[in-house]
Amino acid sequence: MSTHLLNRSTFGDPSNSGNLMTIEEAISLLNEWVPNEKLRLHMKQVAANMKAWAIEKESANEQTALKWELAGLLHDADWEKYPDDHCRIIIEELERRNIDPDVIHCIASHGPKVFGVEPVSKMDKMIYAIDELSGFIHAAALIRPTLYEGLEVKSVLKRLKTPSFAAQVNRDDITDALSRINLQLEDLIQFIISHQKDVS
Ligand SMILES: [Fe+2]
Repeated sequence: MSTHLLNRSTFGDPSNSGNLMTIEEAISLLNEWVPNEKLRLHMKQVAANMKAWAIEKESANEQTALKWELAGLLHDADWEKYPDDHCRIIIEELERRNIDPDVIHCIASHGPKVFGVEPVSKMDKMIYAIDELSGFIHAAALIRPTLYEGLEVKSVLKRLKTPSFAAQVNRDDITDALSRINLQLEDLIQFIISHQKDVS
């Protein structure tokens, strides 16, 4: 796995706490920065999972749920245009826009081995756990004639044990991420299937 170490430990300005953007603004940034529709869908799926997790599992209020959703929507925003500088470019853009540091830290820590930034908050830990698994589950759905319809946790588990399937998805990262939040793999797979199946 190639690394894109950020070599930083603080992100954003604490005085920007509470400064967010609207979902419409985030979508328009995505449309501008990410021409690849499949990659945009990945970010929308991660965002849907993050928002749902915040509301259902963390009893988040509207503002907090928006933070989780924005981090999901924007976490790979620079990947297509700046693959060698992912995720430094989107982080700097969000700092320039004076966005809440929690959102920026969450994006900076979504791949600790790649970016060298450890997840700290629950939001950080959840994006790390959801990101790879969401992409993997989508790949598992795409090869089925009925897509998400009838997709079962056990078939996702079976594919995870097949190294050649979606080989770019690092299984060790999924295990590492889950160990940080004390969550069963089966439960997170079920949560993701239910919350991303209708995202378009
Ligand atoms: Fe991602």
